Amino acid sequence: MSRGSRRATVSAPANIALVKYWGARDLKRALPYHPSISMTLEVCRTVTTVELAPALETDEIWFAAGAAAHPEPAPEAFARRVRAHLDRVWTRLQGVSCGRPAFRVATRNTFPAAAGLASSASGFAALAAAACRTLGVDAGARELSVLARLSGSGSAARSVFGGFVEWPAEGAPAAGAAPAEENPDAPAAQLAPAAAWRLSCVVAIVEDGPKEVSSREGHRLAPTSPHFARRLELVPERLETVRRAIRDRDLDLLGPVLERDAVELHAVAMTSEPPIFYWRPPTLEVLSEVRRLRGLGTGAWATMDAGANVHVLCTPEDEPRVAAALEAVPGVRDVLRDRVGDGPRDETLDLLAEADR
Ligand code: DP6
Repeated sequence: MSRGSRRATVSAPANIALVKYWGARDLKRALPYHPSISMTLEVCRTVTTVELAPALETDEIWFAAGAAAHPEPAPEAFARRVRAHLDRVWTRLQGVSCGRPAFRVATRNTFPAAAGLASSASGFAALAAAACRTLGVDAGARELSVLARLSGSGSAARSVFGGFVEWPAEGAPAAGAAPAEENPDAPAAQLAPAAAWRLSCVVAIVEDGPKEVSSREGHRLAPTSPHFARRLELVPERLETVRRAIRDRDLDLLGPVLERDAVELHAVAMTSEPPIFYWRPPTLEVLSEVRRLRGLGTGAWATMDAGANVHVLCTPEDEPRVAAALEAVPGVRDVLRDRVGDGPRDETLDLLAEADR
């Protein structure tokens, strides 16, 4: 894609958090209480084509519901989020909110939307990157991280890097300490590239509809849980362990911390006021199968975002065995085989051309 071309397609990856972002100290700006660390995925992506369309009066937004689906005019709620994000990207890039030209946008996920597979992270990262391309702005990854997060999806800040990524909580007070000076930009940064540690991620899909309670609502309610304050005390050491596990490529060190952190997120959610239950009965079946696999000597470790689906990390050698075991669990509708991947990339695919056909 040449710089400043009027149409560009970018794909951006989903990511799975190893230490979760849960609870926003500033919901509007998506600023977390504590840092989070994630692994970028390769197969689960959002592909987005953006065209600068100054002749149009309003944006035109298309959405293709599945990997092979034809783009259709997007539902209004979805289109509104896209337009709002384009407003924010424009305002940050130009320094003024007025004069934004209209855009045509077409987007497609390679995985079920809003089912705990971070479709907003990959979606807003892809939209920000494709909009920059179309406007001829050569945004580096740090700036893209900020642009993606302006959407309100904090995890989008991590989806602009490949490999293993940390999103800091600049300005957040450590447990019991006075607030430090705030950096409202707070971009994420890469801890290690994908090539440094070839981990697999097998996803057991037990639910493929949208979740009943958004992550945003979960972030808002998290501090109402009596366990939230304790989580803030525990996270710093956990982050340190995960950084060390990534540096040393040590799955036995990462695994227990990964599972504990995920269960803790859900414990906080379940004890929020009002409580939020993301798990479904098959979620527990999958967790039990993962423990069974470990008992048989397979290094498989589970984590869940704000949804019922379970991501299981393992080595590429164990991946076929883990996938086969998860497929056999009652209530599992599908199993996706993913792995650590690189960040956003330009694509030759043109989703607007597909929409026009
Ligand atoms: C549970 O506010 O980024 O996935 O916009 O729905 O992607 P979405 O959520 P966001 O919160 C993510 C919460 C999480 C944990 C994580 O990814 O760190």
